[in-house]
Amino acid sequence: MDATPSDALVFFGATGNLAFKKIYPALREMMRHGRLKVPVLGVARSGWDLQRFREWVLASLEEHGGGLDESDWKLLELLRYVDGDYTSLATFHALRRELGDAQRPLHYLAIPPSLFDDVARHLAESGCAQNARIVVEKPFGRDLESARELNRILHGYFPESSIFRIDHYLGKEPVLNLVFFRFANLFLEPVWNRNFVQHVEITSAESFGVQGRGKFYEEVGAIRDVIQNHMLSVVAFLGMEPPGSGAPDGLRDEQVKVLRAIRLLDASRIVRGQFRGYRDEPGVLPDSNVETFAAVRLSIDSWRWSGVPFLIRAGKRLPRTVTEVRVKFRCRPQDLFGRLKLEASRNYVRFRLAQDNTIAIGALTRTEGETVDLEDVELIVSRHPEVQVPAYTRLLENALAGDPTLFAREDGVEAAWSVVDPILHDPPPLAFYEPDTWGPPEADELIRDVGGWTNPDENPGARQARCRQG
Ligand code: BG6
Repeated sequence: MDATPSDALVFFGATGNLAFKKIYPALREMMRHGRLKVPVLGVARSGWDLQRFREWVLASLEEHGGGLDESDWKLLELLRYVDGDYTSLATFHALRRELGDAQRPLHYLAIPPSLFDDVARHLAESGCAQNARIVVEKPFGRDLESARELNRILHGYFPESSIFRIDHYLGKEPVLNLVFFRFANLFLEPVWNRNFVQHVEITSAESFGVQGRGKFYEEVGAIRDVIQNHMLSVVAFLGMEPPGSGAPDGLRDEQVKVLRAIRLLDASRIVRGQFRGYRDEPGVLPDSNVETFAAVRLSIDSWRWSGVPFLIRAGKRLPRTVTEVRVKFRCRPQDLFGRLKLEASRNYVRFRLAQDNTIAIGALTRTEGETVDLEDVELIVSRHPEVQVPAYTRLLENALAGDPTLFAREDGVEAAWSVVDPILHDPPPLAFYEPDTWGPPEADELIRDVGGWTNPDENPGARQARCRQG
C-alpha cells in the first residue's frame, strides 16, 4: 500500500446531489478537525464560476451540515472550480493548470459510469492521472458484465491499488463495529456458526419513497441500489473469518471469500415488490417493472454457514427508517421450564446499524416475584449517533491517505454482482404492497420455516417465537 497522501482533491460532479448532501459536509467535518489541508477542485458542466460554486457549498453546509460557523470560511479558501464538458480534453488541460503544484491528486468521480471512459482517458492524456488515485461512486455497473467492463476501462489508466470504489456502508461506524464486536469478543466465536445460529435476518427499511429521484431509480431498483452493495457488504462482515493482519487486504480477502461462497440467486429465493403509488412518481413509467422492495434468502456454502439462511429485506415506503441485523440462535435442547412456559424466545444478537448504534443480546431471565416464569430481556449497549464520524468523512480521509481497506476491490465487486446477476437478467414478477407496510405478503413465505420476520420496531419482549427443536 502506498501511503503517500494525495495533495489535491478533485471532485467531478461538484454541482450534483451527492456533493451537496454528503461531500461538502464531510469536507467541513475534516476541516474542523484539522484533517483537510489540500485544495479542493470542483469540476462540473454547469456554466458556473468560483463565486457561484462557493455559494453552493455554503448552501450545502447550511442545509446538510447543521449551519455555518467561522471555520467554514477556511474551507471556502481551499475551493477552486473548473467548468467544462467531461468529453472535451480542454476541460482536463484547464484542470491540470488549476492543480498548480499538486503532483498526486485524488479524483472523485460522482458522475454516471457512462462517462468513466472519457474522463479516465482525458485524465491520462492531460497528465492529471500521473501518481493519481481515483474514487468511483456507486452504481459500479448495472450487472456483472458492465462492472467487468468498467474495471477494464479503469485499469487501462489506473492500477487496482489506485482505484477506490465507494460503498458508503463500509464507512459507517456501526457497520465497522460488526467486525470489531465479532472478533474482539471471545465469547461470540464458539457460537457464531451453523451449530448454534439458526438464521440471520437483515432489514433495511426506509419510510420515504424515491424523493423526486424517480428517473434515477427507474434505472436501478432495490436490488442494484442497496442489495448488491450495502446489504452484501453487511453479510460479508457478519459471515467472514477473522481477517489476517496484513492491511489492506486481510479484511478484503475475507470479505471476498464470503461473497464468493454465496449461492447465486434464483427466482425461488427472491421476492420483488413495488409500493402502490410508485408509478405515479415523476420520472417513473406508468407500467414500471422496477422493484422498490426486495427480500432475498441467501445461502453461504461454507464450513461455518452451511444450512444457515441469511434473509435480507430492503425497501422504500416501509413503516419506519431503520436498518437492523438479527442473528438468531437455535433453541435450547430441552425446555426445563416447559410446564410453566410452553413458548419461549430464542437468544439473538441484534445490531442496529442506522438511526442509533446499538448492540443487544436477547436473553431470558426468571420473572421476578411469585410466578415462576421466564421473561425476555435485552442486554444493551447503545451509542449516540452524533458522536460517530460520518461515513463519507471517514472514507474521504482514508482515500486521501491512500488507505483502500474500506473500499470495494475488483474481485469483491464482481463477486457481489455474480450473486444477483441471474435475477437481474430474468426477474421474477413484481408483488405489490401498500405504503407504510413491511412489503408484500409474499416476502413472508421466504422466512416462514424459521418463524417469520421480526420487524425492528417491535418490543423484543412482546414477541414469543415458538421454540421448536432442531
Ligand atoms: C444509497 C441509495 O446508496 O443508500 C439510497 O442510493 C439509499 O437509495 C441510501 O437511501 C441509504 O443509505 P443511508 O446511509 O442513508 O442509510
